[in-house]
Amino acid sequence: MEYIVYEQKGQYAILTVSREKALNALNSAVLEELNAALDGVDLDEVRCLIVTGAGPKSFVAGADIGEMSTLTKAEGEAFGKKGNDVFRRLETFPIPVIAAVNGFALGGGCELAMSCDIRICSENAVFGQPETGLGITPGFGGTQRLARLVGPGMAKQMIYTARNIKAQEAYRIGLVNAVYPQEELLPAAEKMAAGIAKNAPIAVRSCKKAINGGLDLSMDEALVLEEKLFGGCFETEDQKYGMAFFLDKNKEKVKEPFQNR
Ligand code: CAA
Repeated sequence: MEYIVYEQKGQYAILTVSREKALNALNSAVLEELNAALDGVDLDEVRCLIVTGAGPKSFVAGADIGEMSTLTKAEGEAFGKKGNDVFRRLETFPIPVIAAVNGFALGGGCELAMSCDIRICSENAVFGQPETGLGITPGFGGTQRLARLVGPGMAKQMIYTARNIKAQEAYRIGLVNAVYPQEELLPAAEKMAAGIAKNAPIAVRSCKKAINGGLDLSMDEALVLEEKLFGGCFETEDQKYGMAFFLDKNKEKVKEPFQNR
């Protein structure tokens, strides 16, 4: 692949968008490779995915403005669908995805981060949806996910004004969970990924399904979804082992890694 670097490190993996000369901007080829990279994730081994950008300056500086500049209406819509399809795939990917936002996360970059389950960033990160300044709307899910994450009032302010925000403000409004010095960002993401990977994989996947699925339902329907996923954990080896380990007073407390998925 030309624009995606994928590295598996035991039970988690790091996917790096790597088009540094354009600040990792997303052209069609990058989106296609991102999709292909997801095809290549070994879900029998990998339990958490980290998404980051190459270099010290940018996570992803948006969709490629050069490529978009000549699109027709139909092509623009198709380009939006291409981005939406791959970001939705990431959002519904069976395992948790952590965005380690290492710099500019503008337009499609902010949208990529918002498609991940968890966002953490470096102190130099900058978030924003600058599209109205370019004569377009956010097109890879920004109008939908930003409002869901930070509330409609804040999302509308950011989108209508096209004003970028720095890491600390992104933290204040709940767009990211934590801010780290640049050199500590990836280690922090890896530590979190390893922490997720050591928990029971069926349970972790089911939690993702319950939270994501439940947000699209009424509370009554969402609780039924939770009951089904909760029930689905029982009789798995992980549930039997996890609970037996807790209840067994005699055996030495050395927990083995959960095996099932
Ligand atoms: N598309 C294409 N190329 C881009 C790009 C983008 N989104 N962002 C940066 N680049 C390119 C620049 O053109 C430049 O290329 P050259 O060296 O060939 O001139 C290179 O990356 C470095 O960028 P700058 O020289 O501009 O770097 P800077 O440090 O001065 O500024 C920046 C950094 C503030 C991020 C600035 O590059 C910028 O504003 N980029 C555009 C950000 C943006 O508007 N993103 C939203 C795109 S629209 C979108 O994403 C729609 C959607 O929802 C799907």
